[in-house]
Amino acid sequence: MHDHDSPHAIPTPQASEQAIANLVDRFYDKVRADAELGPVFNGAISDWMEHKHTLCEFWSSMVLRSGRYQGNPMGTHRALPPFPKALFHRWLELWRDTAREVFEPPVAEVFIGAAARVAQGLSLGLHLGSLEAHTPDALRFTSTSGRSID
Ligand code: HEM
Repeated sequence: MHDHDSPHAIPTPQASEQAIANLVDRFYDKVRADAELGPVFNGAISDWMEHKHTLCEFWSSMVLRSGRYQGNPMGTHRALPPFPKALFHRWLELWRDTAREVFEPPVAEVFIGAAARVAQGLSLGLHLGSLEAHTPDALRFTSTSGRSID
């Protein structure tokens, strides 16, 4: 099942369903072990296989445009017990590290930028405010409007 026993994989140059599954696996290994994020996720998720499957569909839709994901991330996160905005920064930090383990830089940046955009939307939607103060690079890089937001 796990093909990533070594701490550093050989980064893949391209996004694929298999590489996304590796990314998702590795990311949630970090999340579950994290002092800040671990309790939130472990408290909310009982079936990790199912959660990771959903997240593979989500990232497949985001990056490969597969249309596999049909869910509602805003609704799902609104239904969680409230958590502080700082957790988004931790989430993005772990995501960035994992994306760079799994993918070569140009592909890693696609995953990092997409996550930063979604995180920004979720943070605003959860009324936690903008994330830009702590992730200016990621957000400037991915700003869809092309404007600089610092
Ligand atoms: C501090 C930040 C975050 C926390 C604490 C968090 C927590 C969670 C938890 C606990 C679930 C499972 C909820 C359930 O199944 O009942 C979930 C689902 C999900 N999360 Fe997050 N999340 C965070 C950020 C993000 C970000 C930045 C993204 C995307 C880039 C994301 C994407 C998703 C998706 C796609 C789902 C599945 C929704 C569905 O069931 O369709 N999350 N999140």
